[in-house]
Amino acid sequence: MKIIITDSYKEMSERAGNVVASQIILKPDSILGLATGSTPLEMYRYLIELYKKGVIDFQNITTFNLDEYHRISPSSPQSYAYYMMENFFNHINIPKENINIPNGDAIDVDEECREYAKKLESLGPIDLQVLGIGPNGHIGFNESSDHFPVGTHLAKLTGDTLEANSRFFDSIDDMPRTAITIGIRDIMLSKKILLLANGIGKADIIAKALKGKVTPRVPASILQLHHDVIVILDKEAASKL
Ligand code: GLP
Repeated sequence: MKIIITDSYKEMSERAGNVVASQIILKPDSILGLATGSTPLEMYRYLIELYKKGVIDFQNITTFNLDEYHRISPSSPQSYAYYMMENFFNHINIPKENINIPNGDAIDVDEECREYAKKLESLGPIDLQVLGIGPNGHIGFNESSDHFPVGTHLAKLTGDTLEANSRFFDSIDDMPRTAITIGIRDIMLSKKILLLANGIGKADIIAKALKGKVTPRVPASILQLHHDVIVILDKEAASKL
């Protein structure tokens, strides 16, 4: 595991963007695993800038998003599908058919999980998986529990996650209680993983995930066992390492 500590959120984002950009340049038909949340926002903005400057091209890139809220329409501003279109995909030249995001609105959610897993398995493994981390150590929506969830599944969101993510909804009562997420096995099968975290609010969980015991109580701790992980932090998130 390579840990890079940067001075600011902007520097973290640009260093992360450069890792993604070099992946795209070296393998123009890469499969990228993408995350949502506040953390990667500036990295997406920077990648759009590199695209506009002609440094990178998304024509042959395929993406798989980690997760999506259940029972939320892709057109809803709170959906991760909407987030990805607004903050990234609408501004680059990725063909729409190369974008994969679980359909949170699927009538048969088990079938949606199976189909998403099947597609990921047939096109994968992911070349580069970008990850943020939840305040309880979740990656994707693989929540803290007594076992590592293996494959794509419908996750029950924990109280910590509901609290942390309610800022994107009118109130905590409006938040979906479940979400579709790829599993820990899918994440660990990625050839390379890029974990990002910024801000003092992530300092405790970053210390636990990177230096603590490997345990499903802190799902991100399993990344200690992956052969090719780059962690890029700002100095606040790194302050308890
Ligand atoms: C969300 C997402 C994760 C994300 C994490 C951190 O719940 N499911 O994929 O990495 O929480 O979010 P943020 O970057 O907003 O702190």
